[in-house]
Amino acid sequence: MKMFKLIGASAVMVAATGVTTAVAADKVDLGKREYESNCIACHGKDLKGGAYVDFLKVSPPDLTLLSKKNGGVFPLERVYAVIDGRQEVKAHGPRDMPIWGRDYQIKAGEYYVDMNYDPDAFVRGRIFALIDYLNRMQAK
Ligand code: HEC
Repeated sequence: MKMFKLIGASAVMVAATGVTTAVAADKVDLGKREYESNCIACHGKDLKGGAYVDFLKVSPPDLTLLSKKNGGVFPLERVYAVIDGRQEVKAHGPRDMPIWGRDYQIKAGEYYVDMNYDPDAFVRGRIFALIDYLNRMQAK
């Protein structure tokens, strides 16, 4: 009986620890949070395509294959430019993929209100967090 209680208690402790770790990890995973709040509709939770796919003229590519399609190297510069989008849009006109650089620049203004800030640093931080997440999600 005593033994059973002990096992029961440790099982609860393990479960409880598991939960807190998961929550803590979620809190610091900025890239995952950015991805889940901005990208899932079109790219999906698994990065292979989301619910909006049917409404787009161009289907979003599988984002777990970025490295694979680039000879095993994560195409950092290209992915940065595609997510930021402000440069590319000037060259190519309208596109299906939103211009996150502009979006984040507006968000920076809302975030800092009347404090002194560098909007480009804010944009870079968000994009690098996303890139870090995408890089971790690449198919081996
Ligand atoms: C409105 C739908 C939509 C949303 C939301 C969206 N994307 Fe895209 N994305 C696309 C489409 C469509 C493409 C295909 C290429 C194009 O249209 O230029 C694409 C292409 C990409 C590519 C290029 C892949 C390659 O092989 O070059 C990356 C990287 C990417 N998206 C990342 C993101 C990230 C990160 C987010 C969230 C911040 C996001 N996307 C949000 C629709 C979307």
